[in-house]
Amino acid sequence: MRGLVLAGGPGSRLWPVTCAVSKQLLPVYDKPMIYYPLSVLLQSGIKDIMVISTPRDTPRFQHLLGDGSQWGIAVSYAVQTSPEGLAQAVIIGSEFIGNRPSALILGDNLFHGCHFEKSLRSAAEITRGARIFAYRVQDPERYGVVTLDDAGQAHDLEEKPAVPKSPLAVTGLYFYDSTVSARARTLAPSARGELEITDLNRTYLDDRSLGVEVLDPEMTWFDAGTCNSLLDAAQYIETVEKRQGRKVCCPEEICWRMGHIGDSQLERLADEFQGNEYGTYLGSLLKEKA
Ligand code: G1P
Repeated sequence: MRGLVLAGGPGSRLWPVTCAVSKQLLPVYDKPMIYYPLSVLLQSGIKDIMVISTPRDTPRFQHLLGDGSQWGIAVSYAVQTSPEGLAQAVIIGSEFIGNRPSALILGDNLFHGCHFEKSLRSAAEITRGARIFAYRVQDPERYGVVTLDDAGQAHDLEEKPAVPKSPLAVTGLYFYDSTVSARARTLAPSARGELEITDLNRTYLDDRSLGVEVLDPEMTWFDAGTCNSLLDAAQYIETVEKRQGRKVCCPEEICWRMGHIGDSQLERLADEFQGNEYGTYLGSLLKEKA
């Protein structure tokens, strides 16, 4: 399975993964925002990842992540020249995806919670249909909204409905079978001129092949795409990390635990931080193991 991260996407957003004002990569507490969605793909078992971003921001991601070999993975890049919608990501990435299933995650989505890795592993095994994740929120009108029938099957999907039929927001993480790029090519732009991810997912709903997993309420999900939600996310990560002494969504740690890199490479990565808090944490993982 291959993974796509759409980062710094639609220009309509004030705060994508890079700051619209300073034009720098945005952090969430102690690490770049893109580390969070990247970590989700890594935890799904995906090692081949394409980052899709704007012409302005793609070089910044290349500088940050390189070719991924430092983490034992492969990272490549593609540019979305204009903000023509989230679903366009699977058209831009169609050659990279090839004839394989794929996962798409939005660059400003943060997930944290126990048992999530199990859900990810299972979603990464799909070969037919699509799997999306829903999360109960108090402001569903901000998101794609899914309605389930009594059997828990997807019944209806709407993008930012004025009057939501359900409290279940569709999170920005999507697992698709190999037909996704072909499906995206059949979509017409919406009234705002974008290929909508909800329309793409609706093609699977119409085929009765859209699986929905409702995330456990004990999980936390943020779409950090506004100034306020970015601050909320940062404060949440700070609270969890300080309390537990563990970093959330630390790609170096995940790649090391998954065996993509060994102890000596983790040590090299830690040393590059020259004793700052992030490097000290990476070093502490090795000490703990010893
Ligand atoms: C996008 C999608 C929406 C989804 C949300 C999740 O909205 O269009 O369906 O619920 O991401 O983060 P946006 O954040 O671009 O407004």
